[in-house]
Amino acid sequence: MNTTTPNDVPAAKEPVSENAIDRVLVLEMVRVTEAAAVAAAQLIGRGDEKAADAAAVEAMREAFDSLYMDGTVVIGEGERDEAPMLYIGEKVGGAPGKGPKIDIALDPLEGTTITAKAGPNALAVLAAAEEGDLLNAPDVYMDKLAVGPGLPAGVIDLAKTPTQNVEAVAAAKGREPWDLNVCVLDRPRHAELIAELRAIGCGIHLIGDGDVAGVIAVTDQDTGIDMYMGQGGAPEGVLAAAALRCVGGQFNGRLVFRNEDEKARARKWGITDLGKIYTLEELAKGDCIFAATGVTSGSLLDGVKKRKKASGATIMTTQSVVMRASSGTVRWIRGEHRVEPHRS
Ligand code: FBP
Repeated sequence: MNTTTPNDVPAAKEPVSENAIDRVLVLEMVRVTEAAAVAAAQLIGRGDEKAADAAAVEAMREAFDSLYMDGTVVIGEGERDEAPMLYIGEKVGGAPGKGPKIDIALDPLEGTTITAKAGPNALAVLAAAEEGDLLNAPDVYMDKLAVGPGLPAGVIDLAKTPTQNVEAVAAAKGREPWDLNVCVLDRPRHAELIAELRAIGCGIHLIGDGDVAGVIAVTDQDTGIDMYMGQGGAPEGVLAAAALRCVGGQFNGRLVFRNEDEKARARKWGITDLGKIYTLEELAKGDCIFAATGVTSGSLLDGVKKRKKASGATIMTTQSVVMRASSGTVRWIRGEHRVEPHRS
């Protein structure tokens, strides 16, 4: 049986530069998100969140081996006893002890339910930074508030009410508060927030899942979304913050704890001020990279598609984005991945 898959992993090669976030490494990160997206895409619409997530995790884990780095997962699939692969603290990369020390925040499948239901905006996503530069966020909720680039520093403030924030952003944009569009996760816990925004008259873009794409949408004028508000996963908050560090924008995040166990998790990762409001630079410092590949199509990226070439070969096409904070470079990458015929 032919065992070649789209995710076959070449050996890690030594880079030409000694920079930790090496230029080559920036582009290579896309291989990792592509591998996860292609694997998860085989399970789009199959109603099985766990299988889709497991496929993405396994493919991403394997793809890391081809990168010349000494990586450590700082945001991953959970703690060591909860996740078999890509758990927090797991070493990844093909050059342990030799390559540059890189911290990785990842979500091999951001939007497991979306994928299972073939909805929009599922992504394979990661952020990478030098050791110690990404907040080791525990898997709790985070209050999030985001706007895109080009607004005065400090225009948003999580300590203020949603109304005050909408008014401040509207004033900065020279528009009326009712004219703004706010993206919010469609959850019962957001009933009050939604009622407050409706009272102002804002347009509310309710999303079922996938707040990494939801936050990033504020940076793209084509989405029509001016602000992101509401509670989602804290790990997803760090990933979105890394993206905003690269393309501009402002973000406030505050961890939300539902019980003592969650507080204990935060303390374990060195977080002492449990009510702190984090800015972008406090979530993702220094020179960070953000890479994502679309699994299903959405506001940020096209999803994986299966196509037949004139030659008869079946390929999976991907669209990815990779961005780097220090240069502000954003690269959109289309990939074609040959798929061997499935034989069982
Ligand atoms: P999963 O990929 O883990 O399913 O997360 C999807 C997501 O919608 C995130 O984008 C978001 O941050 C989080 O779930 C919100 O959590 P909850 O579904 O508990 O409201």
